[in-house]
Amino acid sequence: MSRVLVTGAASGLGAALVARFVAEGHQVLSTDLAEDSPDGGTTYLKLDVRSPDDWDAAVAWCEQNWGGLDILVNNAGIATGGRIDVETLDEWDRVVDINLMGVVRGCRAFVPLFKQQRSGQIVNTASAAGLVHPPMMSSYNTVKAGVVALSETLSHELHPYGVSVSVACPSFFRTNLADSIRGADSAMGATARQLIEKSPRTADDIAAAVLDGIKKKRFLIIPDRPAALAWRTKRFARPLYDRQMRKIAARARQRAEGKDG
Ligand SMILES: NC(=O)c1ccc[n+]([C@@H]2O[C@H](COP(=O)([O-])OP(=O)(O)OC[C@H]3O[C@@H](n4cnc5c(N)ncnc54)[C@H](O)[C@@H]3O)[C@@H](O)[C@H]2O)c1
Repeated sequence: MSRVLVTGAASGLGAALVARFVAEGHQVLSTDLAEDSPDGGTTYLKLDVRSPDDWDAAVAWCEQNWGGLDILVNNAGIATGGRIDVETLDEWDRVVDINLMGVVRGCRAFVPLFKQQRSGQIVNTASAAGLVHPPMMSSYNTVKAGVVALSETLSHELHPYGVSVSVACPSFFRTNLADSIRGADSAMGATARQLIEKSPRTADDIAAAVLDGIKKKRFLIIPDRPAALAWRTKRFARPLYDRQMRKIAARARQRAEGKDG
């Protein structure tokens, strides 16, 4: 039985992961933005990933109540995107603060404990966008690529301490993620909402595959076929990948300019 902390656990992938961890008999601390647990279910702590104080409190909670932690799942995140000349710098700041620095803060908070334990597993939710970079999504692609880079760095750095690192890179799946879109580029926001809400995949589909990767301590967890295919195409058929990206850019440009009117 493992002791697991999940951020962004009130919705979507976080909630689906918690349900699966609990079903398998693990101890879970769910965390999210709200003061209280939305469903009153699992043990809950408010943890805004932007707050170093909240992170310190989470470490203290794990030490006091569990005497340590086995798996830290840095999952909380928001959706952003848009054309480089339309999306605002405030949006960049917001997504860097949550999606990238939120993960950095989580790792910094728990690594001293993991080193002391000489055990632990860090699981970061990035995205397929951290591996392949479609046009009109520069802020999201950039922070998710940052999460992939951070994860790989730590996987090597923490190996001597018996600490493993995994990074999950799913393609679009159905959650409440689109509700976090507040961008100035509303045409691109509408496209992202559609991709999330029309995806055939559920959060539970993704959670099942991510959990399997966690158990196998796989570094790169690519939990669905579209993400796996895109990553393979980029690595082994680069001209085809570039052509696909250019096609997406041309279509997105038409759509955006149609909407901008
Ligand atoms: N849904 C997709 O298509 C998709 C694809 C690839 C990657 N992801 C990633 O999966 C992760 C989970 O997203 P989801 O799709 O389940 O979305 P979601 O909106 O359903 O859940 C995200 C959760 O994170 C929480 N959150 C947001 N800001 C926070 C903060 N500052 N501190 C703590 N919690 C915060 C929200 O309250 C929410 O409960 C994100 O990192 C997202 O980028 C999602």
